[in-house]
Amino acid sequence: MKDLYKDKGKSINRLRPSFGHRNTVIAICSWLVLVAVFVSVSTILIIACWLNLHIFLGQSVLKFQPKKFQDFPLECFAWNQTRSCPKNYPISHINLDRSLDMNPTCPDYFRWIHEDLQHWKATGITRDMVERAKHTAHFRLIILEGKAYVETFRKSIQTRDLFTLWGFQQLLRLYPGRIPDLELMFDCDDRPVFNIKQYFNKRPNPGPPPLFKYCSDPWSLDILVPDWSFWGWAETNQKPWELTLKDIKEGNKKVKWKDRVPFAYWRGNPSVAPVRADLIKCNATNTRHNVDWGARLFVQDWVNESVHGYKNSNIEDQCTYRYKIYVEGWAWSVSEKYILACDSPTLYITPRYHTFFARGMNPLEHFWPIRHTDICKSLKFAVEWGNNHTSKAQEIGKASSRFVQEDMKMDYVYDYMLHLLTEYAKLLKFKPTVPPNAIELCSESMACNANGNQRKFMEDSLVHYPTNTIPCTMPPPYGPSTIKSIIDNKTNAIKQVEMWEDEYWKNQNL
Ligand SMILES: *[C@@H]1O[C@H](CO)[C@@H](O)[C@H](O)[C@H]1NC(C)=O
Ligand SMILES: *[C@@H]1O[C@H](CO)[C@@H](O)[C@H](O)[C@H]1NC(C)=O
Ligand SMILES: *[C@@H]1O[C@H](CO)[C@@H](O)[C@H](O)[C@H]1NC(C)=O
Ligand SMILES: *[C@@H]1O[C@H](CO)[C@@H](O)[C@H](O)[C@H]1NC(C)=O
Ligand SMILES: *[C@@H]1O[C@H](CO)[C@@H](O)[C@H](O)[C@H]1NC(C)=O
Repeated sequence: MKDLYKDKGKSINRLRPSFGHRNTVIAICSWLVLVAVFVSVSTILIIACWLNLHIFLGQSVLKFQPKKFQDFPLECFAWNQTRSCPKNYPISHINLDRSLDMNPTCPDYFRWIHEDLQHWKATGITRDMVERAKHTAHFRLIILEGKAYVETFRKSIQTRDLFTLWGFQQLLRLYPGRIPDLELMFDCDDRPVFNIKQYFNKRPNPGPPPLFKYCSDPWSLDILVPDWSFWGWAETNQKPWELTLKDIKEGNKKVKWKDRVPFAYWRGNPSVAPVRADLIKCNATNTRHNVDWGARLFVQDWVNESVHGYKNSNIEDQCTYRYKIYVEGWAWSVSEKYILACDSPTLYITPRYHTFFARGMNPLEHFWPIRHTDICKSLKFAVEWGNNHTSKAQEIGKASSRFVQEDMKMDYVYDYMLHLLTEYAKLLKFKPTVPPNAIELCSESMACNANGNQRKFMEDSLVHYPTNTIPCTMPPPYGPSTIKSIIDNKTNAIKQVEMWEDEYWKNQNL
């Protein structure tokens, strides 16, 4: 039946040669209609996909859009002419896209913000308490209606103060209109200052001074913030964190873990702390015990490095050993995050001080604990254990690089600062004001007169426009029993390793 109709159609066409022209017209028309239908269907599909992605995939939408933000580069020409900060930077989130509100909970180490501030929970923070921190502070930072001002008391070493202020300034650019009014005292030196006992064993309690610092210890009150090197360390050629992380990720790919030198690596300045002098004694060249402790240690000569273009201090070239050693200096060491970022497990010489993020890591999960009393023996055991248990060792290396590369990426560093300042400002019992000798900060006033590495790192870490996402959600405080359990678990893991070590050394004749 079908064939019959087909044949019939064919024969009709054959019988009507004079209609050939008309047939072409019909063919072209049908073709045009088909194209039109195809184009509209595709358009509808593309729009539908776009909407779906928009709704379900959050940030994916950005891939389909041209950059919708206006860029705000440094206005150095205008700054040179007028010496006044630009007025055109947005003062609120004009581009905040509500469909991107799928903000995850912040990493667990954010919960220590509550712990750092708990000393003022009951009383709040009075102006008197803030002023009591002044004698040790390098500067007072004031944030008022979204603008930053600084009152400088003394100069810090190197460019710590400058890059710390730069970091706060970039935070204001990232989250305009979200940083509450506040005043805070900042000390750029290494070690924590205010001891808890000094304030809480006295009656009446004189009111502890809130002081912002880069590191603290369990006996101190100091409030932790990210150090200057997240925006760059000009004096040692250390790029801003965001760029360093990219380099380290590349460096990690160069040599597979199994092909790395099966020893523990460290490079640094041994003269800043006794524990580092102890460490250097474990080098392979120290033949006093005629033992190879499994460590390859190098002295960093910063002066020679700066003369020779920092050839030996490229962080990304240091992921070539299977193990990397972390040891404190005068206080915490800036090298901590770079060492943890390699896929090689970190042999972490038990520290006294902690940074804002270090409290989120666990021994045996993110690093291998090393005794600070018997370093060489502890190192030798760790290296041998790792070479015997290669998959477990690689797991530890991966866990720390994941922590550092993901939980500590620059977005979270800014979120940490945002949440810390927000919680801190809630405690203030006075209205912040700008003292007469304070000056207004803007990126131009800090960067336009800088040159060399300072200028470069500032340009590289400049926040060009406000974020269009909202920050991660602040997790609730830990309960007292959870804190106890966290500390117990860490202690137990360290004890476990020490037991293995003791067992091992009992069977060696040394
Ligand atoms: C601003 O002035 C400084 C010093 O006067 C100069 O070095 C710099 O090139 C100027 N920058 C611009 C963008 O004009
Ligand atoms: C440690 O030993 C290595 C050789 O294994 C050597 O190249 C290096 O200079 C030594 N470091 C120190 C600080 O002596
Ligand atoms: C200084 O650095 C260069 C280049 O890295 C190196 O070849 C040289 O041995 C170093 N000199 C000293 C005294 O450390
Ligand atoms: C590593 O394995 C060797 C050979 O099996 C063994 O003699 C040594 O005790 C092991 N060391 C550690 C630390 O596990
Ligand atoms: C501590 O360790 C125990 C046992 O491994 C575990 O059940 C508990 O969740 C850990 N506590 C914390 C806070 O990590």
